Amino acid sequence: MIRLLDKLERDRRLTKEEWVRLLAALEAEASGESEGPGVREKSDSYQTQRAQEAPGEDTPARPLSKELTARARETARKTFGNRVYTRGLVEFTNYCRNNCYYCGIRAGNQNVDRYRLTADEIMECCREGYKLGFRTFVLQGGEDPGFPDRTLAHLVTAIKSEYPDCAVTLSVGERDRATYQMWYDAGADRYLLRHETADPDHYRLLHPSAGRPLSLANRIRCLRDLKEIGYQVGTGFMVGSPGQSVETMAEDFVLIQELQPHMVGIGPFVPHHDTPFAKEKGGTAEQTLRCISLLRLLLPQALIPATTALGTIDPAGREKGILAGANVVMPNLSPTAVREKYELYDNKICTGEEAAECRGCLSGRMELIGYELAVDRGDHPSREDAQSRGDHSSHEIQQDRGDHPSRGGGKL
Ligand code: SAM
Ligand code: FES
Repeated sequence: MIRLLDKLERDRRLTKEEWVRLLAALEAEASGESEGPGVREKSDSYQTQRAQEAPGEDTPARPLSKELTARARETARKTFGNRVYTRGLVEFTNYCRNNCYYCGIRAGNQNVDRYRLTADEIMECCREGYKLGFRTFVLQGGEDPGFPDRTLAHLVTAIKSEYPDCAVTLSVGERDRATYQMWYDAGADRYLLRHETADPDHYRLLHPSAGRPLSLANRIRCLRDLKEIGYQVGTGFMVGSPGQSVETMAEDFVLIQELQPHMVGIGPFVPHHDTPFAKEKGGTAEQTLRCISLLRLLLPQALIPATTALGTIDPAGREKGILAGANVVMPNLSPTAVREKYELYDNKICTGEEAAECRGCLSGRMELIGYELAVDRGDHPSREDAQSRGDHSSHEIQQDRGDHPSRGGGKL
């Protein structure tokens, strides 16, 4: 199996069959370890784990998963050093027209206390975030017809005008190409849209096909449109979602290697008590960490977050995520009054703290493992030159040209 890791590092791609073999071997090793006393680490300390995996302490007998983690961490260090990028997350609406079976804010959940921030409230979050050192704002929400697409475009322009040195990432689901283009022209830099699963049957298991139908084909259409328009694009999937198998995950990795996204967000599936998947088993931190490491070897330059969901199921999940090859964290900038209402899954962490506390907490956590939070837009390395040119341009020029100055107009 080490040969498959070598191949992944060399070619940055594997066939679907090879992905299946690698994923199956990692799973088998993990379940074998859990039965063997003395083999699995008893300590929950990521620092212990880190010391055991430190480069230079390699032995030929190192288990596959440890070899994978060490290589992934080293790959991330080569590209990003010990700097971790931050994104200030503004969860600006929990209204959604969709009914994804796994999601706590799905339209069918009558128990959600719905909210929608005003443009002024969102600007205030950005103001606070800027003072704290955030240089990327992620506006995330359900697919909310009550927050018109044009209003969002104006908001993006307002944020870019007040903070020309910042990036704006949107994550508001599926739209037609013209809408994505409008937001891009308004100044949006990046777009997050997880594909959730690359297997059409599995997709149908996770999403309703009646009512407002959702299809894998349309998700992929959105992702391709976004990339062609010029966004830095993020996709991803939940680890351990109901019905997931090594085969469906292999398809996820194949789709990702074909799409070559700039960002990949993966986190464990965590059940929410008011959804059809309330009684399903959640994904594990170990499985998620293995996927992060595989992604890092597949896409050495990708922006990969250590997600809040990972921090929810494991108190040291985000630290472990960084040590497994992730390079981004996304603390919450939403007003504390609404945090609990954006409950995608049960027991979500960081719903009580102020934005400053969240950043301070994460900064301390990263320092403890030898990393630091960067005050930086944190673009994909392939976009850094173009973005720094854009940072020096004025908003007036943006308006004259009708597009954002950081864009060389180039497709990837
Ligand atoms: N509406 C946008 C979209 O669909 O991309 C953004 C919001 S959506 C809630 C963001 C992500 O949350 C989804 O892509 C999904 O992977 C994740 N998510 C939703 N429910 C979850 C759950 N129960 N456990 C873990 N992640 C979940
Ligand atoms: Fe729309 Fe979850 S169902 S955000």
